[in-house]
Amino acid sequence: MSHEALHESYVVQAHNFASAGEVSASIKRLLRHIGIDFGVIRRVSIAAYEVELNLVIHSRGGRIDLEIIPPIEIGGETGWLHLTSTDVGPGIRDVDLAMQEGWSTATDDVRDLGFGAGMGLPNMRRNADSFEITSEYGVGTTIKMGFKIQ
Ligand SMILES: Nc1ncnc2c1ncn2[C@@H]1O[C@H](COP(=O)(O)OP(=O)(O)OP(=O)(O)O)[C@@H](O)[C@H]1O
Ligand SMILES: [Mg+2]
Repeated sequence: MSHEALHESYVVQAHNFASAGEVSASIKRLLRHIGIDFGVIRRVSIAAYEVELNLVIHSRGGRIDLEIIPPIEIGGETGWLHLTSTDVGPGIRDVDLAMQEGWSTATDDVRDLGFGAGMGLPNMRRNADSFEITSEYGVGTTIKMGFKIQ
């Protein structure tokens, strides 16, 4: 496999619905361009879209980091693609609750736009090969997802 090590960082603005989805679309384009497996691209795209929309809807802004570590650098047959979302608040009061399907704090305005089913975080966990969320209420949230690549 010929993927090279790569690190890209994308800024996501809070509450900007006009540009919502652009970062995950850029990530998808980049992964297609470098020839990542279609099945992996599909799962990464879903997770990237959900994590991006959460930054737009629920956070005060943040960024998404994409990192590709090819197998040759790890010394194995499997490389990893990491997606990390970091934001500047407000944090999640109860992460276990937020991880439950159907749980959402989305306002009626946001629900009218078609968001707020409470399925984003469960979807991320389902699509990633590894999933880690840490959040401090009043401070911010970090989500790290890993995807195996061959
Ligand atoms: N980055 C974040 N900062 C603060 N709160 C968050 C963040 N991401 C998620 N949350 C909280 O976790 C809840 C569940 O998130 P999840 O993505 O599962 O559902 P949703 O965004 O409400 O709806 P959907 O993703 O289905 O449109 C959100 O309603 C919100 O309260
Ligand atoms: Mg969501």
